[in-house]
Amino acid sequence: MKKNKIVIANWKMNKTVSESQKFISELINDRTLKNYKNVIICPSFLSIMSIFTECLKNNIKLGAQNCFYEDIGSFTGEVSPIMLKKSGIEYVIVGHSERRIKLNETPDIINKKLFVALKNKLKVILCVGETKTEKDCGTEKSAILNQINSAVCGLKEIDLLNNLMIAYEPVWAIGNTNANVDPMYAENMCAFIKDSININFRKKINVLYGGSLNSKNAENFLKMEHIDGGLIGGASLDVKEFSEIIKISQNFYIS
Ligand code: PGA
Repeated sequence: MKKNKIVIANWKMNKTVSESQKFISELINDRTLKNYKNVIICPSFLSIMSIFTECLKNNIKLGAQNCFYEDIGSFTGEVSPIMLKKSGIEYVIVGHSERRIKLNETPDIINKKLFVALKNKLKVILCVGETKTEKDCGTEKSAILNQINSAVCGLKEIDLLNNLMIAYEPVWAIGNTNANVDPMYAENMCAFIKDSININFRKKINVLYGGSLNSKNAENFLKMEHIDGGLIGGASLDVKEFSEIIKISQNFYIS
């Protein structure tokens, strides 16, 4: 069956519980949307359960923005993959560049998080992306490869990879509407990521693009063959803007 391109909202540290609820009720009241089957929303931990029932009723999937790498124990302030899974949360973002850079999340931590999340049958959105310096030095592909290899290191159980997708998010393009990313550049990088997973694991996985996607540029990215969807930050906070992007995504299918 043909599947629409995937649209993921990463709300980051935005929206209170009531703002999250308001957003969802406005989104599902938008009768111009065909369905929400290809939509995943990643709110804060605080908001996630408050919109759970409404999302479930409307086929909107939910993801967490992070999780810890142990199942249970004395880790003050952390949320475990088991807690997410048992609460009915399907997805989790791992390795976002904001966590790598601002919260010192190392490749080793990302590897552990990825493994434990997949082991608990969560679907993981692994973020990778080069910095501006790496791009300027022409080392973007080796930077991406390093990030992927260290994240999946030791992950021998091929079945686990069924639940992995990768979001290619160039660090220099995140939250930077002036970055003017060439969709062809993103397409080539996404194709490169797919090929390297295929060579190493003989697996076809979905690869998304993220970085200043909005309703004006979404079509240029989502029409690309190797871009299976978008991870959207800033533009996912506004319900009208986000539903425009969903509408655009529903004109394109994963190949
Ligand atoms: P942005 O964020 O759309 O605001 O650039 C994307 C992300 O960080 O996932």
